[in-house]
Amino acid sequence: MIDINKAITSLDWQREPHGLYAPIEYMLASGGKRLRPTLALIAAEAIQNGGLISGSVLDDVLPAALAMEVFHNFTLMHDDVMDRAEVRRGQPTVHVKWNDNTAILSGDQMLIESYRLLSNVPADKLPQVLRWFNEMATGICEGQQLDMEFEHMNQVSIDEYMEMIEKKTSVLLAYAMKIGGYIAGATPDQQKALYEYGLHIGLAFQIQDDILDVYGDPKTFGKAIGGDICCNKKTFLLLTALETADAESKAELLQWLMSVDQDAEKIAAVTKIFNRLGVRETGEAVMEEHTSIALAQLDKLPQNNATEKLRVLAEKLVTRKS
Ligand code: IPE
Ligand code: IPE
Ligand code: MG
Ligand code: MG
Ligand code: MG
Repeated sequence: MIDINKAITSLDWQREPHGLYAPIEYMLASGGKRLRPTLALIAAEAIQNGGLISGSVLDDVLPAALAMEVFHNFTLMHDDVMDRAEVRRGQPTVHVKWNDNTAILSGDQMLIESYRLLSNVPADKLPQVLRWFNEMATGICEGQQLDMEFEHMNQVSIDEYMEMIEKKTSVLLAYAMKIGGYIAGATPDQQKALYEYGLHIGLAFQIQDDILDVYGDPKTFGKAIGGDICCNKKTFLLLTALETADAESKAELLQWLMSVDQDAEKIAAVTKIFNRLGVRETGEAVMEEHTSIALAQLDKLPQNNATEKLRVLAEKLVTRKS
């Protein structure tokens, strides 16, 4: 298996003007789990020769895998501006280290770079890959818009939340699987199974991200704890709390939703209400449900080393700390 981290960090950003490319290099060098390209490559492996991916198929999938990681990092660079997040992967975010305008423009350039990388997939596969990549990219923008709109709404249902996270987070994982598999020759049924696997691990992944935003260790999580609480993000935890709270806890929560510039107190108080209501456990149960749906998709694929890796990965994501 190719070292995807090395492939990402070997991309060359020594270009002028330095001010445009340095933040891109900084962002891509800061690490991360490299989940999306990993999924694309394992999906291809799963379809190809019982998990023994041939060099040429790898060459065919790699451009799409790299494009997805660069695209993902572009969304994070802009997301950190939108969420006013100051730390990512244990380092200052681009808009803090530089400024908002830099994060906007370097992010835009990353989006362009992701399409440039994508254009290297085999010509016969490119039209379909491009249609799917566009669908994915539009889904993320729609999801991010909903995420922002929800910050200012007090009535958001869990169904609306699930639709929002499907768009902002899951479609990228789903299309990473589907595109990786498609380039390696997956049948339409296999493509569907790969997509569904990605979609459902994606839903569990975002719920876990919401949980870690409150209960994570900032050292391993790499992001500030309580950021979602501060900006009234309609996370799985908050919505479940609002839905299941007794009148007194609900009034208390709604009161905190109106408070600004009392960040530390707000985080502590809201976390206490979450603990009292046991919303973390509810989130973990829903994650388990989606992980099971994802695992069931793997039965529809060839059984080989790669599908085994996907099984292990789905189970590991549920307990991830970073
Ligand atoms: C962060 O994604 C954004 C979400 C969808 C929650 P990751 O948790 O995959 O971020 P990195 O790339 O590993 O840092
Ligand atoms: C991530 O949502 C979704 C996208 C970046 C598209 P979050 O805002 O929860 O991601 P983090 O927690 O900042 O990584
Ligand atoms: Mg964010
Ligand atoms: Mg966000
Ligand atoms: Mg988050």
